[in-house]
Amino acid sequence: MEKWLFLVLLCPLLPAPVRPHEPVPLPAVVFGVCLGIGTGGFIWNFFSSGESCKELEEVDIADLQEDLENRLFGQHLAKGITLQALSGFLRNENPSKALAISFHGPTGTGKNYISQIIARHIYPEGMKSRYVHQFVSTLHFPHVQHLDTYKDQLQQWIRGNVTACKRSVFIFDEVDKMPSGLIDAIKPYLDYYDYLEKVDYRKAIFIFLSNAAGEIINKLALDFWKAGKVREDIKLSDVEHHLSLSAFNMKDSGFWHSSLIDRNLIDFYVPFLPLEQQHVKMCIKREIMDGGIIVDDELISKVANDMTYYPKDEKVFSVKGCKVVSTKLNFYLLPTMNGTVDRPRNLSVFSNLFNFVSWVFWGICSSISSFFYFVFWGISSLFLNIFYLISWVFWGICSLFLNLFYLVRWVFWVTCAIFLNIHFVYENYVLVALCFSEFR
Ligand SMILES: Nc1ncnc2c1ncn2[C@@H]1O[C@H](COP(=O)(O)OP(=O)(O)OP(=O)(O)O)[C@@H](O)[C@H]1O
Ligand SMILES: *[C@@H]1O[C@H](CO)[C@@H](O)[C@H](O)[C@H]1NC(C)=O
Ligand SMILES: *[C@@H]1O[C@H](CO)[C@@H](O)[C@H](O)[C@H]1NC(C)=O
Ligand SMILES: [Mg+2]
Repeated sequence: MEKWLFLVLLCPLLPAPVRPHEPVPLPAVVFGVCLGIGTGGFIWNFFSSGESCKELEEVDIADLQEDLENRLFGQHLAKGITLQALSGFLRNENPSKALAISFHGPTGTGKNYISQIIARHIYPEGMKSRYVHQFVSTLHFPHVQHLDTYKDQLQQWIRGNVTACKRSVFIFDEVDKMPSGLIDAIKPYLDYYDYLEKVDYRKAIFIFLSNAAGEIINKLALDFWKAGKVREDIKLSDVEHHLSLSAFNMKDSGFWHSSLIDRNLIDFYVPFLPLEQQHVKMCIKREIMDGGIIVDDELISKVANDMTYYPKDEKVFSVKGCKVVSTKLNFYLLPTMNGTVDRPRNLSVFSNLFNFVSWVFWGICSSISSFFYFVFWGISSLFLNIFYLISWVFWGICSLFLNLFYLVRWVFWVTCAIFLNIHFVYENYVLVALCFSEFR
């Protein structure tokens, strides 16, 4: 949006256009076009959010891959499966059904985090996009006794949203805390129908997040660790079947005896492994870098050691994953009570300050200069144009009168001349007649 405004502000820097006595000068044309585009774009941007449904557009899978590499730690399975699932689905112009992925795993391992990354790569506004919808069970569907109302509501929402945009993304958070049976309300939308009540649901994306099967994943990861194997050797086939089975059999949870699982409507079951201390450290490091602070290994160790790990003796896996990392980090970044500031030297504060100040100055200077330019230019050109207009009006009126007089004068002249000539002819005729009569 700002670039349009910038263009408008830039306009007065072009040569001043007012030269009333010449044919329209080129700078005036340029100025007018530039001003028109600038204000038009600005207004257009202002009234449209600039976001559009990505029905046909490509999503940059390489970009998504890079983001996942840089930001999601210790989840080789989730990374691989997500990329594979999305690249296949998004490239397919005519998928046979909507995409349904279910993320499973213990707390704080990145399930919400990866969904945010995915959302951001399909719609740049991410979770704020009007085509990305997140349903949180404990927030949207808290009461088991309203099951039927929720079912209707959920169907209505999905129908409405997919009608508005085929490439809609639906994220169901905390599916394990959903009232049992509710998730089956969306079964028709995940099934192999071309059109359902004239709506095509096959381009939609459904993502389910749950802690279901977290215990199984934890145990598997621990077994691998105990056997001295690296976690990267864990294969999807080691867990996939357990994921769906344990979700299906988890009583009082959203997937309990769900026909989504029963009828194989979920395309991918993705395990999220518990995070080790090295991954927690990577999370801390990324958090520090995102905050624009200089990375300090001592600080990273301090925060990492402050987290709890299990099993009690070996302390391999973080109990809360990376979940409380930012809170813990903020605690360490706070100045301590007795005045000594326990905080890494923070150069970026200065650079940020400098940046800020220079921007402020730039803003003030450019706005003042634009203001004066505009005001003076505006006033002077206004006056010039007004004078020009007045002179035209006077000239017009005068010339009108002049022409009128001229016309009147001509009319008189012509009339007079005619009379005079007639008179002359007549006089001559009389004279000639007299002559003739004299001679006779
Ligand atoms: N694998 C990971 N790589 C990088 N950061 C992570 C990872 N897992 C978690 N985080 C960080 O921890 C925060 C919390 O993670 P997230 O909300 O995704 O957990 P979750 O899996 O949804 O947990 P829960 O099951 O409790 O909802 C994220 O915002 C992110 O900053
Ligand atoms: C789309 O879903 C949201 C919930 O995320 C809901 O509030 C909204 O009413 C839905 N839109 C339509 C047109 O149904
Ligand atoms: C004051 O700072 C010292 C280290 O400089 C620290 O050991 C001590 O715990 C601090 N006291 C309080 C009250 O924070
Ligand atoms: Mg979560």
